[in-house]
Amino acid sequence: MDIVVISMAVLVVRCFARDRQGGRELSPRSQYGAHRVPESAFPDCPRLQNRTAIVTGASSGLGRAISVLYAREGANVVCADLSPNVGGMHTKDELSGNEGGDTPTHELIEQQVGKGRATFVKVDVCDESSIEAMVAAAVEKYGRLDIIVNNAGITGVPKENEEAFVNGAGLRLHETSTESFDLTIRINTRGLFLGCKHAIKQMLKQEPLEANSRGDRTRGWIVNTASMLGLVAFPGVPAYVTSKHGAVGLTKQIAIDYAKDRIHCNALCPAFVDTPMTSKVIAGPIRHPLTAAHPCQTLGKPEDVARVALFLVSEDAQWVTGVPMVIDGGVAETEGEEEDVGNSTAQGSSCAGRKEQNVGDVGAFEREMGS
Ligand SMILES: NC(=O)c1ccc[n+]([C@@H]2O[C@H](COP(=O)([O-])OP(=O)(O)OC[C@H]3O[C@@H](n4cnc5c(N)ncnc54)[C@H](O)[C@@H]3O)[C@@H](O)[C@H]2O)c1
Repeated sequence: MDIVVISMAVLVVRCFARDRQGGRELSPRSQYGAHRVPESAFPDCPRLQNRTAIVTGASSGLGRAISVLYAREGANVVCADLSPNVGGMHTKDELSGNEGGDTPTHELIEQQVGKGRATFVKVDVCDESSIEAMVAAAVEKYGRLDIIVNNAGITGVPKENEEAFVNGAGLRLHETSTESFDLTIRINTRGLFLGCKHAIKQMLKQEPLEANSRGDRTRGWIVNTASMLGLVAFPGVPAYVTSKHGAVGLTKQIAIDYAKDRIHCNALCPAFVDTPMTSKVIAGPIRHPLTAAHPCQTLGKPEDVARVALFLVSEDAQWVTGVPMVIDGGVAETEGEEEDVGNSTAQGSSCAGRKEQNVGDVGAFEREMGS
């Protein structure tokens, strides 16, 4: 033990002495002294130049915003979804201030960024052959695959329960149909597994990218859209919570299994974001209490999530993997103080769900977080 301590001390003194002598090669550590940051540490923008990205669930909400931002940062984007026209940005494209309307995402990208920079591929993430075809289509069109965002997802709330759900009545486990549980897992977790599986197969067989500033040759980036509910439970959404915890677990597993291959895998864990998935609730009576429950006093926007999704596939995240990234306007940090939110008292409305909660008492906020 003493020998180890002494050896380390000698090493530190030697490094220090070398720096002071000047002219000699600096140790890697000393390059980052107070006044020295190598120019190569920060590569030029745009951040995704010459990258190919697949985004599933690209026709709507978060997937649409992520696709547009990636394309603006230089990527060629494969916009994958059940249909090119399922939802839209629902109001306007906040990234540009332009009305996005119902223009399919790949067309919006071509209008804003340039012809040939995006393509639509039909995919059903429940179907393995469909996922394989999606990856093959990306490689055929753009030559390789650098990024996949497994983002397609559903709330798992059955149609017949939608109205009650919007008004704050979630379903506990014994009330949840096995069919809706299975479907939620099939899309939100199994679909993500399949997306990762076939993207990784491709990433492993293609030539890695050029060395980045820390000398790593990255093979690929995976971003899985989980949710805040991949980290904590909420009353009334057992299928969704299970599916998103699975998404976070899978993300961590992939991160450690493929770190040596330089495939990064991280998850997005947003709280309540204003998208078509949540629009019915937002149009309802709980909009105000919902907003008030967020310390930032606003709901999330798709762009808020897209910006973090950009970071996670850029060189800025070159030493980041296995992270469930919380994007929540501070909700997770609230301790669930009792809040007067108009007619309903959102007792324990914390996203972290740390306080004892009763499905009957908890405001619609928690249930809606399951979206
Ligand atoms: N909006 C939120 O508050 C929120 C919060 C946390 C996490 N999320 C997650 O973010 C992701 C995107 O959600 P959103 O709010 O943008 O929802 P959205 O409904 O606007 O978009 C979801 C997209 O997924 C697609 N999709 C659904 N099933 C599919 C399938 N089987 N195959 C291919 N595509 C399919 C839909 O067609 C749609 O375009 C989801 O995984 C969701 O669980 C959303």
